[in-house]
Order: sequence, then C-alpha cells, then structure tokens
Amino acid sequence: MKGHVLVIDDEKNYLLLLEALLNEEGIEVTGLSDPEMALDFLEESEVDVVVTDMKMPRLSGQDILEKVKKDFPHIPVIIMTAFGSIDGAVEAMRCGAFDYLTKPFSNEELILVVKRALNFAHMEQENVFLKESLVQKYAKKHVIGKSKKIQTVLHLLEKVAPSKSTVLILGESGTGKELIARALHYSSPRSKGPFVAINCMALNPALLESELFGHEKGSFTGAVATKKGKFELASGGTLFLDEIGELSPEIQVKLLRVLQERKIERVGGTKSIPVDIRLVCATNKNLKQEVEKGNFREDLYYRLNVVEIELPPLRERKEDIPLLVAYFVNKICEQNSLPLKHFTPEALEYLSLYDWPGNVRQLENVVERCVVLSSSEQIGVEDLPSEVKDEETQLKSAVDLLPLRLNLAETLEKIEEALIKRALVKSNFVQVKAAEMLGISKSLLQYKIKKYNISF
Ligand SMILES: Nc1ncnc2c1ncn2[C@@H]1O[C@H](COP(=O)(O)OP(=O)(O)OP(=O)(O)O)[C@@H](O)[C@H]1O
Ligand SMILES: [Mg+2]
Repeated sequence: MKGHVLVIDDEKNYLLLLEALLNEEGIEVTGLSDPEMALDFLEESEVDVVVTDMKMPRLSGQDILEKVKKDFPHIPVIIMTAFGSIDGAVEAMRCGAFDYLTKPFSNEELILVVKRALNFAHMEQENVFLKESLVQKYAKKHVIGKSKKIQTVLHLLEKVAPSKSTVLILGESGTGKELIARALHYSSPRSKGPFVAINCMALNPALLESELFGHEKGSFTGAVATKKGKFELASGGTLFLDEIGELSPEIQVKLLRVLQERKIERVGGTKSIPVDIRLVCATNKNLKQEVEKGNFREDLYYRLNVVEIELPPLRERKEDIPLLVAYFVNKICEQNSLPLKHFTPEALEYLSLYDWPGNVRQLENVVERCVVLSSSEQIGVEDLPSEVKDEETQLKSAVDLLPLRLNLAETLEKIEEALIKRALVKSNFVQVKAAEMLGISKSLLQYKIKKYNISF
C-alpha cells in the first residue's frame, strides 16, 4: 500500500521493529526517536499518517497530537500507549486521535490500524483536492465580461456571498444563472459544503416533493427505504432551486413553511429536521408578473427575493462578445487538444452584431461548432452558421443600435455616406468595384461622393 508513515518513539529498538514491520507491507516509513525533530520533519516532508508513542521525554504523544491537529488537520494520528494507561488513550481519542494501540499489540493489529489510517488520509486528500478544483472551476473569474452590466452583477455577488441571505437570480435562458449560482456558492464561506441543484420543472409535483424533502420508508408505494431530500443533502452548503417559476401551488406552500421555520419534515414523517442551507433560486420567468397573474404566491416571492440578481441578455452587453468568444475558443481548443484557433476580424464582427436570442449558451455552442468543424486555424465568415449571417436580422440589430432622436432623411443620408465609405475602403478605392458592391452605377457613385464630399 502506498503512503508515508512517520513513527515516533523514544525507544530506538522498538522503532526499528515497527519500521521493519510496516516496510514489509510496502509502506514508506520514517522512524524518529526525538519528538522535537519529528515535528520539524513534519513541516518539511509529505507525511500521510503519524504513529506516536504517548510517553516520551520533553514532548508527549498528546503534544504531538495537538500540534498535528492544529497545523495538519488532514493527517490522522495513531497513539501508542503502555498497557494499563487507558485514560491516556481515551483522552487522545477525545482530542481527535484517529485510533490508539495499547502495547503490547500484535503485528496484525498495527498493520490493520495503519492501513485504515492511510486509506482515510488518501480519501481526505482526494476530497480536499476535488473541493479545491471545484472552487477553482467555479471561481468568479470564470464569469466573463467587462461590460458595466456584468460588472454590476459581479459586485453584487461579492457583496452577498459572505451572508446567508436568500438570492433570486433572474434572466433569460442561457444568460448564466446557474453559473452565477455556483460562483456565489464557491465564493461564500460555505464553499467547502455541498452545492446541490435541482430543477423544479423536471419532475412532477409528487416526485419533486420527495426529492426536496425526502421520504420515510413506506410513505408511498415505491418508497422502499428512507431517503434524504435535497434540503438535508445540502446541509452546510447551498441549495439551488432552478426554474422556481414552475413550482406547483402545493409545493409553494410547503417551501414557504420551510423558509419560515427553517425545518423540514420528510414525506410520511413526523419528525422536524432543522436545515442549515443557503437558498439560491433562479427563473427565466418574470416572477413579479406571475405573482400578479396569481400563479406564484406573493408571500413566497418576498421570502425568495431577499437579494435579486438580474442577468442582462447578451444583446444588451454586446461589448462582451469578443471576450466571451476568446474565452470559449481557448476552452474548447484546450478540451479537444486542438491548436489555438481564432476568428477573423470580419467573422468576429458578425458575431458581435448578431442578437443572440439564446444568449451566452447559444454563443458558446456556435463557437464550439465553428472551432471543431473548421479545418484551418482561421475561422472566417464562411464558417459561421447561417442564422448569424442572416442579413435581415443583421440589419435589424444594426438599426437597434442607432440613437433614438431620429430624423428619417438625415439618418438615411448618414447611413448612405457610411456605406459608401466602407465600400470604397473594401474595394481599395477602385470605384467600379465599389459601385458593384453597392449595386449602383459608377456615375451615381461619383455623384454621391461629390454630394457627401467624401475624400480620403
Ligand atoms: N459570463 C459568462 N462567462 C462565461 N461563461 C458563461 C457566462 N454566462 C454564461 N456562460 C456559459 O453559458 C452557458 C449557459 O449558462 P447557464 O447554464 O448558467 O445559463 P442559465 O441562465 O442557467 O440558462 P437556462 O435558463 O437555460 O437554464 C454555460 O455553459 C455557462 O458556463
Ligand atoms: Mg439554468
């Protein structure tokens, strides 16, 4: 079994014996007879498990245990005590020792306890690693955007993350509601606890109820065993209720009660179970309107809407599109082990003008398709899907960008002037070509150049 065990015992012969025994099992062992040296050794080496004698001069096993618990809380400590000093062993367990061995113990006993501790240590390390990688993966820095609108969202997120306040996230489909919910959890003090998500639309009301609150064995046909609900599973962490606008009236009442009392009862159960969760909800519906229409309880709406984060649709923060594209290109190339590709400025312009009804998710999908399908490292306009190139929608979104103090004749003239300039630049000032591009005769073009006094 893999692992590194530090054994501390002031009796050198005994130490040698333990070392030999564990070595035989393929375990790497360092034996030290000086407890102070052992503590220094811990600082500078990778140790998975500590086995220490209780009674030693200067520093006792108890001192070692306390020090390890404080500085290396993930390293399990096994205490060896002399026969008859059971009080010391009890005290050690109380202080967080992993286990104890009473001398004299058999070889098998020693090996069994050490292996169990090593297993435990590996699991702990894996857990810490997994949690850290999740924290990394969902850190705020992965919410891309420099626009004022998204920066406002990020500031708000920073402000509410440390609290336990319920947060309601609103926004159209694909705007990043789940991304923000996770970023909120992983930048909160609960980041080490679980993030549990449930989509309220995916299940029928009866199933949803038992998913949320759990059920007792036998409470309905098919309830063959007691099951914990999401509220219990999210204990110490964050519960994310997605598509909250779809909750049936019955579940709305139950949810309201849970939020008031901070306790749940499993389906078919009688016991109240306290819940310690932070609740984050999301919906792409206009919840206020749903309240007005009588589809959503007003009292529940106010309980959920303690802090509201509204995500802007992508078309309202088009300046973020180039950043998002670069981020997705990087991510997708890395995931698929492809050389880094890039969009030509012209293709990027198309992406920046398009309206993105499916928001960031649609943009991500389009970028992925282009990156994976394009055969060269350059992705040009010809590689873009047709919906992005559709001229009518392009025109419409260009018009949407115009200021609203319009005088029709003046505006049309300005657009005409701009288009003529562009055609001239694109055709390298060859007037025949520019006229062809614009679909007008050369003489008409020349007339317009004079009219607008265009010169370069
Ligand atoms: N600002 C952003 N930066 C980087 N990626 C983003 C951003 N916003 C959204 N995404 C990505 O877009 C995709 C859709 O986001 P998400 O699933 O969070 O949207 P949603 O609002 O929950 O959508 P729906 O309402 O359809 O469930 C995800 O892959 C997400 O990582
Ligand atoms: Mg979602």
